[in-house]
Amino acid sequence: MRLLVTGGCGFIASTFLRQALGRAEVERLVNVDALTYSGRRENVRELEGDARFRNVELDICDAEGVERLVREERPDAVINFAAESHVDRSLFAARRFVRTNIEGTLCLLEAARGLQLDSGRQVKFVQVSTDEVYGDLEDDGGAFREDTPLDPRNPYSSTKAGGDLLALAFARTHGLWLVVTRASNNYGARQFPEKLIPLMITNALEDKPLPVYGDGKNVRDWLWVDDHCEGVWAALQRGQAGQVYNFGGASERENITIVKAILAELGKPESLIRFVGDRPGHDRRYAIDFSRATAQLGWRPAMQFEEGLRRTVAWYVENQAWWRPLRDASFEDYYRQHYGRLGLKA
Ligand code: DAU
Repeated sequence: MRLLVTGGCGFIASTFLRQALGRAEVERLVNVDALTYSGRRENVRELEGDARFRNVELDICDAEGVERLVREERPDAVINFAAESHVDRSLFAARRFVRTNIEGTLCLLEAARGLQLDSGRQVKFVQVSTDEVYGDLEDDGGAFREDTPLDPRNPYSSTKAGGDLLALAFARTHGLWLVVTRASNNYGARQFPEKLIPLMITNALEDKPLPVYGDGKNVRDWLWVDDHCEGVWAALQRGQAGQVYNFGGASERENITIVKAILAELGKPESLIRFVGDRPGHDRRYAIDFSRATAQLGWRPAMQFEEGLRRTVAWYVENQAWWRPLRDASFEDYYRQHYGRLGLKA
């Protein structure tokens, strides 16, 4: 199989790339990444020695560039992980979310369709998305299913929903073999330290306050990144065209429980916790029903959350050279300016 993967210098897709190179059926693996703030070349450095792998610095919104590359590489499948993904950033910089998550998806869909028309053979497309497109849930039970109506609540999730709908429309109108995958909160090694788990670990390691939004009782379902990537692979191999597949970790936890577990693991005091103003429009609870993925793809999450969290903490302890440069002046500036403006963090 010849695969074209986008966003491969980011957290989730770099895990997918690493897994893919371990699969004998992958004969070509092309990574397209614009290297924005969260795309790190070092995330794929160890893959660069493999002759099957090619790294291309390219913005998925560059329609001509994408089309040229797709014609040159002639992939059997395009797997779109590239996205602006941080909810807090979407609150003050929504335009670039519209650009990457909707327009970028469109460029890839058009290029895949063009190749399919040209070559007369099927080009598969996997649109990697999020459970946030379903909105949020009350505290009292229930879980998102694939037929739950879309109800995105913030600019990030709205643009992901837009990308999903566009992708599904291409499947119907242009006969593209396409599946959409929607996963819950990922965690693991190499996640940019602006998301809850790596932010709390790295702040704790630097003895900085740990900012918990609201009452800390918002619930997320945590999915080990390797499990998620196995699911995306299973959807590509065994998915039914035009379907949506949910992936969850069966690990619902309140934010405050996670923050305390991280402090305990690092031997740091709970006095580092700071309850700060709530995120505007903060979704209360996410939970995901992944029974379709189990029934049709044979997929279920393998990692137990406490073990995964221990491994994640250990990775950030052992790989300080990876994250310390990311928390530079621009990172601090981002926090001061934007969070300060929103009144989110003291
Ligand atoms: O559900 C999947 C989604 O999960 C993905 O599509 C998004 O790309 C990903 O960012 C994530 O969205 P969340 O908003 O749930 O993730 P985040 O890590 O930003 O926040 C997790 C929870 O922790 C949320 O309830 C907000 C809270 N939080 C987050 C940060 C960054 C805090 O209390 N303090 C913080 O400083």
